[in-house]
Amino acid sequence: MSVQPQSTEEAARVAAIIEEMKSLEGPLLPILHGVQEEFGYVPGSVMPQIAEALNISRAEVHGVASFYHDFRKAPAGRHVIKLCQAEACQSVGSDDIAARLTHLLGIGLHETAADGSVTFEPVYCLGLCACAPAALVDGEPIGRLDADAVDEIVAEVRS
Ligand code: FES
Repeated sequence: MSVQPQSTEEAARVAAIIEEMKSLEGPLLPILHGVQEEFGYVPGSVMPQIAEALNISRAEVHGVASFYHDFRKAPAGRHVIKLCQAEACQSVGSDDIAARLTHLLGIGLHETAADGSVTFEPVYCLGLCACAPAALVDGEPIGRLDADAVDEIVAEVRS
């Protein structure tokens, strides 16, 4: 995958984030979170700038950004469905929910629909285990997901 060269404007926005966070202990994660907050994802083009500022290798920045599921490599869709894939939700059928969402949305986990309408992501425990299987739809928690609830969610993100 080719990485777009960094624009001056992007570099300035990233420099401000680095400046704000670099004195923290373990600044890499807060900087990556700051970048995602600013741009909605972590562009590959920011990695060299962060690496240089923290005096670490690009591979290290890339490794951390890839390791954590929270960091997106591309902009999200207009709606974001985060389906819990942790144990309590798995034990009551989150795999079936994932399969239904994949079927109806036409995209798998970690993917965004070609029309930019929706991004489908896994998340690992939302603290809603008592209402499993659970998801966040545009930040709103939804518990006790079943086929009907999935159909409603899909209709909403497609409207
Ligand atoms: S395991 Fe899914 S909300 Fe806790």
